[in-house]
Amino acid sequence: MSALVPKHIAIIMDGNGRWAQARGYPRFYGHLRGSNRVKEIVREARRLGVSALTLYAFSTENWKRPEEELSVLWKTLKKYVHRQIKDMKKNGIRLHVIGEIERLPTDVRDELKRAMNELKDGNQMILTFALSYGGRAEIIQAATQFAKDCMNGIATPESLNEKKFEEYLWTSPLGENSDVDLLIRTSGEKRISNYLLWQASYAEFDFPELNWPDYSVEEFHKSLENFKNRKRRFGAV
Ligand code: FPP
Repeated sequence: MSALVPKHIAIIMDGNGRWAQARGYPRFYGHLRGSNRVKEIVREARRLGVSALTLYAFSTENWKRPEEELSVLWKTLKKYVHRQIKDMKKNGIRLHVIGEIERLPTDVRDELKRAMNELKDGNQMILTFALSYGGRAEIIQAATQFAKDCMNGIATPESLNEKKFEEYLWTSPLGENSDVDLLIRTSGEKRISNYLLWQASYAEFDFPELNWPDYSVEEFHKSLENFKNRKRRFGAV
């Protein structure tokens, strides 16, 4: 794989609602159209040799949305997983989920569990859906778990370092690929919005001025081209 292809890409798929409203559709229609883009970008990332793709599909803040929109979002996600499982398996994609999974509707959780189990041997790319996810919550649960392990004699405070702490983050199955190389947020908003706060410490950012349903494979290539032209120094000179 080319060193110029990011190993871990994280995406904030923003602007579905605005895309729909601008065309006179209800907001949820944007999510339906957005899920087609998910399919295309997942395929392309896998084809290009990306090792990890992490998609922000639902933040902890998104629970405040109207019931109708939430219901469409969950249905869309469930349908997506159900329909794509065969293709993902064929392409060696492993599925992972990060976030407060216990808050998800039971049927969605069950579908995700089934898919994760079915795809557990995938070794080409790890696709992660961030669902009811918040970066601060992830760090707090990691700290809590570590404190518990210390109390139970499984760990000691002195043993803690960055690598060790990463074992407690929800992204731990990503292993050496857990650091985000490229973070893309569509819709022109230039915020990180509590996404992968730890993992994005050295990420390059790209903010395409397009809503997610308009973010095509061609636009994805542009983001990758921008990444190639960055000089990453990781704090060195
Ligand atoms: C942000 O747009 C998008 C979401 C909250 C949901 C993203 C969901 C999908 C792309 C479809 C299903 C997901 C998968 C993984 C198959 P917004 O609604 O906040 O748009 P706005 O900022 O214009 O209101």
